[in-house]
Amino acid sequence: MKKDTYFDNKVIWITGASSGIGLEMAIQLDLTGAKLILSSRNIEALNALKNKLSNPEKHFVCALDLEKSSEFEKITQSIIEKYSKIDILINNGGISQRANAMKTSLEIDRKIMEVNYFGNIALSKCVLPYMLQSGGGQIVVVSSIAGKFGFYLRSAYSASKHALHGFYESLAMEEFNNGIRVTMVCPAKINTPISVNAINEKGTKSGIMDNNQRKGMPVSTCVKKIVRAIKHQKQEVIIGGEGVFAIKLKAFIPSLFRILIRRQSAT
Ligand SMILES: NC(=O)c1ccc[n+]([C@@H]2O[C@H](COP(=O)([O-])OP(=O)(O)OC[C@H]3O[C@@H](n4cnc5c(N)ncnc54)[C@H](OP(=O)(O)O)[C@@H]3O)[C@@H](O)[C@H]2O)c1
Repeated sequence: MKKDTYFDNKVIWITGASSGIGLEMAIQLDLTGAKLILSSRNIEALNALKNKLSNPEKHFVCALDLEKSSEFEKITQSIIEKYSKIDILINNGGISQRANAMKTSLEIDRKIMEVNYFGNIALSKCVLPYMLQSGGGQIVVVSSIAGKFGFYLRSAYSASKHALHGFYESLAMEEFNNGIRVTMVCPAKINTPISVNAINEKGTKSGIMDNNQRKGMPVSTCVKKIVRAIKHQKQEVIIGGEGVFAIKLKAFIPSLFRILIRRQSAT
């Protein structure tokens, strides 16, 4: 990707930049001339990433735990002090689940909601006032096809992603005339360590690379599609042919969808 007039000198905050989709997003957006804020809990991984990018001096690493929303205002202020604005917030950080609903405690359900839903919307609520002050901005939300239908071993994960759609559809309507644009991204199976990092019934990392993940779309292809959707200010983008098919089938022939989805492997 070359320098790009849409992204050049835009200040873009990426959460979950230490791995998978967020990390690849940093690699591709670095080449567009954007100034990146790289966030997650793993500062070492973020610093290693920043030093690998072609314009490290433009970028800023900043620790953020999506479970600690009380810290977000201070973190946001530190970014505003450095860059004076945030043009695009990419709410990408999240955790998946590989655990049966009946065997998952409410505590684990709440943790997944905290990271994937409350942490996500809390960050948007911190950033929005600054975007409004500067006349507008863009919020990109990495949801999932699990935000469109439930799936085996993903009950809380799917719920957290469904919740994002309700919240951001409303927000996008309310803030449209104030120059805020929201892009919902729904990837299908992407080849990242998401299943390895997913939490199990005990609340610990599954540690297993799923076959579905390994066979998934290359992360670089997925991110190219996300970058294009951001640039065109798409309201929603489904990434992966099987995702597009499943969502259409659920909408138009739900009875057949239910038969076919039950036959899919959980992992
Ligand atoms: N891969 C797929 O097939 C797929 C499909 C649909 C949707 N998605 C979505 O895409 C997004 C990125 O997933 P990925 O595939 O790139 O997975 P990944 O490789 O496991 O990356 C997840 C990222 O989220 C961060 N994160 C996790 N918990 C966090 C917390 N409490 N606070 C702050 N950051 C946290 C991680 O950073 P730290 O551990 O350093 O904090 C990491 O950078 C997620 O929202 C996921 O739901 C992925």
